[in-house]
Amino acid sequence: MSTFDIRREGNLTVQDHEDITRMLALSFPSYATGFHGTASWSGMQPETRITASDGAGIAAHAGVKRLFVQTGDSSFANDQLVGAVGMVSVRPDLQGTGLGGALAAAIRGVLDDMAVPFGLLETGAETSGYYERHGWHPLPGTVGSYNGFAIEEPARVVRGHTGWLVLPVASPLEDWPQGDIRWNGQMV
Ligand SMILES: CC(C)(COP(=O)(O)OP(=O)(O)OC[C@H]1O[C@@H](n2cnc3c(N)ncnc32)[C@H](O)[C@@H]1OP(=O)(O)O)[C@@H](O)C(=O)NCCC(=O)NCCS
Repeated sequence: MSTFDIRREGNLTVQDHEDITRMLALSFPSYATGFHGTASWSGMQPETRITASDGAGIAAHAGVKRLFVQTGDSSFANDQLVGAVGMVSVRPDLQGTGLGGALAAAIRGVLDDMAVPFGLLETGAETSGYYERHGWHPLPGTVGSYNGFAIEEPARVVRGHTGWLVLPVASPLEDWPQGDIRWNGQMV
């Protein structure tokens, strides 16, 4: 079951979106009202999906989107290319069985294939250890600003003071630019 499908967003069918949505509603219960029907993303739509399936449907999922984030007071020319990662989840009945580790490796593989300098994500204190276990580095003291998820208030810019993690992919960690992160839009 640890075989992952890597699919570009434009190749997903309506049924694929329904299947992913059902699983995300289970894995993110506090966002369940946002994941309904074919609404398989709650912030920025990913460009690539990483999924594993079993007889009960989607078993594990992550979304990735390449984009430029502003760091510090950088000019447009110095904005940082990242592979933004989000909606990382293992179906609740399978959590703690090792599938999350395989998912983290599959995410890393996609970021390698994209040859992005860094992966970037935000997570809660309770899941930061999962990412750190798989090579992600916390950015203590960094503030990240982004537009809220669809079920919150997407026009409002949210400031997140904790939980930012970066994964060195094609660039070393020391090349990560200093300063706060501005997404200038929603996160995956
Ligand atoms: C976070 C999540 C994807 C981890 O998946 P999982 O299947 O439970 O993880 P695994 O059993 O494969 O564990 C993989 C490794 O990560 C570690 N790990 C898993 N969850 C962890 C956590 N919350 N904190 C610290 N380490 C964790 C495990 O100990 C294991 O380490 P090991 O390889 O040394 O044994 C899963 O718990 C989940 O979907 N949670 C709900 C959705 C969510 O919060 N996603 C993150 C949002 S950004």
